[in-house]
Amino acid sequence: MKIAILPGDGIGTEIVAQAVRVLHALELKIETETALVGGAAYEAHGHPLPDSTLQLARAADAILFGAVGDWKYDQLERALRPEQAILGLRKQLGLFANLRPALCYPQLTHASSLKPELVAGLDILIIRELTGDIYFGQPRGRRTAVDGHFPGADEAFDTMRYSRPEIERIAHVAFQAARKRSKKVTSVDKANVLETFQFWKDVVTEVHAQYPDVELQHMYVDNAAMQLVKAPKSFDVLVTGNMFGDILSDEAAMLTGSIGMLPSASLDRSNKGLYEPSHGSAPDIAGRDLANPLATILSVAMMLRYSLDQAAAADRIESAVQAVLTAGLRTADIWSQGTTKIGTRAMGDAVVAEITGKAITTKT
Ligand code: IPM
Ligand code: MG
Repeated sequence: MKIAILPGDGIGTEIVAQAVRVLHALELKIETETALVGGAAYEAHGHPLPDSTLQLARAADAILFGAVGDWKYDQLERALRPEQAILGLRKQLGLFANLRPALCYPQLTHASSLKPELVAGLDILIIRELTGDIYFGQPRGRRTAVDGHFPGADEAFDTMRYSRPEIERIAHVAFQAARKRSKKVTSVDKANVLETFQFWKDVVTEVHAQYPDVELQHMYVDNAAMQLVKAPKSFDVLVTGNMFGDILSDEAAMLTGSIGMLPSASLDRSNKGLYEPSHGSAPDIAGRDLANPLATILSVAMMLRYSLDQAAAADRIESAVQAVLTAGLRTADIWSQGTTKIGTRAMGDAVVAEITGKAITTKT
């Protein structure tokens, strides 16, 4: 098995380094090869997703991705900005299904900005369509308006669109995931205003006919945003489009205490995947040994489970993370009174020590 390692920018390199140590600590027959992506690749090769990186990603059995982006690239033309690397990988590799679990660890209930009773035991799976919608819809661009409120003025536009097969395949992913959980899907749309999302709702409803054992609920995105902070435990599987999924997954992540804890998987039709933390490159804390590597470490667990058929190894990582949290070890983002604050590298050390059975139980 070969894993492409794409650390990227900002904290990406630090967190991926720890995740790779954890992967190697499992002593599986796994080969890794690292390549530049994002701003780092732009600096070295003049493009955020060089051909060599794309080829490596294509050839690999799975991809471990850190994060891309830095404000210093904001002035570059769009095609050269670091974000194009992740968007390009998703599109080129057909990674249409983005799984973002939002799990509230009992040890971290108090790190949430919501009352502990609202989030204790929270376990939501957000399934975000990842290669369509307004993110990729053509046409898009800038032009002079010929109509609208200000004819003759400069304007910018994007196109929101979804085709039937795009909606059908993500709906199947959601219903099948629900069958392995509590058999409840909430499809989030804006059917009251948008043609695209009335169609989304219609197609999801049609696909649902094949899953009579799963309960389907439709919810407008504004209400979903509200319900996520009002009664987050009322959700189980939440499926939505690319744009709404981007926004709601950050919201759901924060319910759990820190976005620094949340892994994600982006899968193609045959479960080949790219695995990355749900958070970004956080240039403000990069290089300071402050970032939480657990989202990336847990992304390795998802990779083992979904793409490499190594569920036992995935369990070992997840148990090790639990043990480290129980021992009271915390990076700054999840630290609270009475726990021990440690850095990125020490968090990696602690997880590796649990996996290799060399952990020194820390009492707090
Ligand atoms: C995410 C990120 C990306 C997105 C950015 C970096 C392009 O916010 O993975 O959620 O908008 O999809
Ligand atoms: Mg996002």
